[in-house]
Amino acid sequence: MRVGIIGTGAMARALGARWAASGRTVLIAGRSPSRSADAADATGARASRFGDVIRRSDILLLAVDHRAVDEVLEQMDTGSGVLHGKVLIDCTNPVDTADNRLDLPTGATSMAEYLADRTGAQVVKAFNMAQASVWERPPQWGLSQPATVLSAAADGGAADAVTALIDDLGFRSVNIGGLDRARYLEAAAAIVIGLLAAGEPSGSLLTWVRPLGPPDAP
Ligand SMILES: NC(=O)c1ccc[n+]([C@@H]2O[C@H](COP(=O)([O-])OP(=O)(O)OC[C@H]3O[C@@H](n4cnc5c(N)ncnc54)[C@H](OP(=O)(O)O)[C@@H]3O)[C@@H](O)[C@H]2O)c1
Repeated sequence: MRVGIIGTGAMARALGARWAASGRTVLIAGRSPSRSADAADATGARASRFGDVIRRSDILLLAVDHRAVDEVLEQMDTGSGVLHGKVLIDCTNPVDTADNRLDLPTGATSMAEYLADRTGAQVVKAFNMAQASVWERPPQWGLSQPATVLSAAADGGAADAVTALIDDLGFRSVNIGGLDRARYLEAAAAIVIGLLAAGEPSGSLLTWVRPLGPPDAP
């Protein structure tokens, strides 16, 4: 499975490096050829142009600033149908960090559904619930069990492909349901971002229920 990454920032580099290290062919493209080349060097990926990455990849990760989504879709020429039927992972967090509230395109219920409507891709919401630095660490770092990656996608090939990429990282994959549930992951991320900004340690947010210790002695 060839993985194409759109974006050259922290998420693109962290996830791209892990997938490349696990033996995947990773292609990476951003709007700047020099930043694409830097990101490729840093991750073990190959730099290319948007069109080439879309054509040659079996699965794509969109890892760009949520405010740039419309512009990036234009740069990718999605109006011509190039993403139709492709599996597209959406890790964006449409959150305004000034007040940690959702910041969605007008009329959209979630960025993931907006992307599906705009592109015809099989969109999977995933990887939006943890900081980029989490993917650079072992999945059990400081935890008693591997951290969980929640995703939202219709059952089927797209969800299975994303599970395979989560398995590559050694994390536990949990699909919370169809893409109509992506709105909950985006809203939950707004809460997580606010908590992290307030100083909550990120490890505490990665396991939903922490294993209980031994009962208190009577
Ligand atoms: N960082 C995290 O911990 C984290 C965690 C979960 C989810 N996310 C989400 O993942 C996405 C990527 O985050 P990140 O931390 O990787 O961001 P980042 O390091 O700031 O990188 C942002 C990427 O978006 C591109 N971009 C911005 N404006 C653009 C435009 N107008 N046209 C084309 N490309 C544009 C940038 O390209 P240039 O370099 O050319 O500007 C860069 O490749 C965001 O939606 C974020 O909410 C981030």
